[in-house]
Amino acid sequence: MPAIAATAPGKIILFGEHAVVYGQPAIAVPVIQVQVRAVVTPAIKAPTGQIEISAPDIQLHGVLKELPFDHALNQAIQLTLKELGLSTHPAFNLKISSSIPLAAGLGSGAAVSVAVIRSVSKFLGRPMADERVNALTYEIEKIHHGTPSGIDNTVITYEKPVFFIREQVIQTVNVKTPFTLVIGDTGIPSPTAITVGDVRKYWQADPEKYETLFNACGEIANDAHAAIENGAVDKLGPLMNENQQRLVEMGVSSPELNILIDAATVAGAWGAKLSGGGRGGNMIALIGPEQASHVAEALKTAGATNTIITKVSHV
Ligand code: PMV
Repeated sequence: MPAIAATAPGKIILFGEHAVVYGQPAIAVPVIQVQVRAVVTPAIKAPTGQIEISAPDIQLHGVLKELPFDHALNQAIQLTLKELGLSTHPAFNLKISSSIPLAAGLGSGAAVSVAVIRSVSKFLGRPMADERVNALTYEIEKIHHGTPSGIDNTVITYEKPVFFIREQVIQTVNVKTPFTLVIGDTGIPSPTAITVGDVRKYWQADPEKYETLFNACGEIANDAHAAIENGAVDKLGPLMNENQQRLVEMGVSSPELNILIDAATVAGAWGAKLSGGGRGGNMIALIGPEQASHVAEALKTAGATNTIITKVSHV
C-alpha cells in the first residue's frame, strides 16, 4: 500500500456570516494560499487496526484510541470507517500538517476534517465522493461550532466560491471579473462556537433587532452575488462596508478588527470587513491588485500578525 496524501484549502466568508446560521444567504471562497495536508502511510509492524496520529502544529502525537471519543480527529476517522462499513483495517500512520491558523475564521477545523477523510478513505481503497466528504465534515463541524450553518465544510470540500443557503442545493458562484483581497490576521484566536452562541443569546433577548440585522445581511449577500456574477466589482467594496456595519451592530466586531479595517480603508481599500465568527481572527479588504502590497504593509503596521493576498476567480 503506497502513502496517500490529500490537501484541503482555507476559506474566508465574503458576505453573510452569522446571518447564514439563521437561513440567510452567504458567500464564501476558498483560500488556496493556506492548506492542510494529511498523509497516510502503512504501519506494517503495528497491530492490525492501530492508528498512530502525528499533528505537530497542535503538539499531538500518539495512538488514536487514546484521544477522547469526541475529539474532532477521532470523529473524522470513526465516521470515515463507519461510512466505509469497515470493522477492521490495516494499521496506518496519519500525519497532519497545516498552514491555516487555528480559530481565526479561515476554516482550519473543516480543512483538517476534509483532508483526513479524503486521505484515509483513499488509503483504505474506497475514495469518498465529495458529497459524502461534505456531509461527514458537517457532522464534525458540530463539535467545533455547536450549530454550524454548513458553509465552511461546503466551500472547503468543493474548493469553489459558493453562494450558500442553509439546507439548500449548493450553488457555485460564477466570478465574471476576478478581484483581489488582502486578509489580515488580528492574531487573536476567537472560537466560532462562542461568537455563534453569543449571537444566539442576543437574538433570543431581542429577536426583532436581530432579525432585521440578519435580513439586511441577506440582502447584502444577494446584491453581492449579483455583482460578482455581473463583474460589477465596484459594487463590492460598499457592500463589504455595509456588511461590516451590520456585524458591528450584531456585537461581533472588536477593537482590533476595527483598527485593521480602518487601516485598510485609509490605505486605499475599496471596502473591508471582518470575516467569519469575529471578535478576533481575520478581516478582509477588497483592493486593486496594484495596491495589494501597500495595503498589506499598512495592515502589518496597524498590528496584523499575518497577511495573505488572494485572488478570487472562477474555478
Ligand atoms: O468558521 P468561521 O469563524 O469562519 O465562522 C463561520 C461562519 C459563521 O457564520 C459565523 C458560523 C456558521 O456556521 O456559518
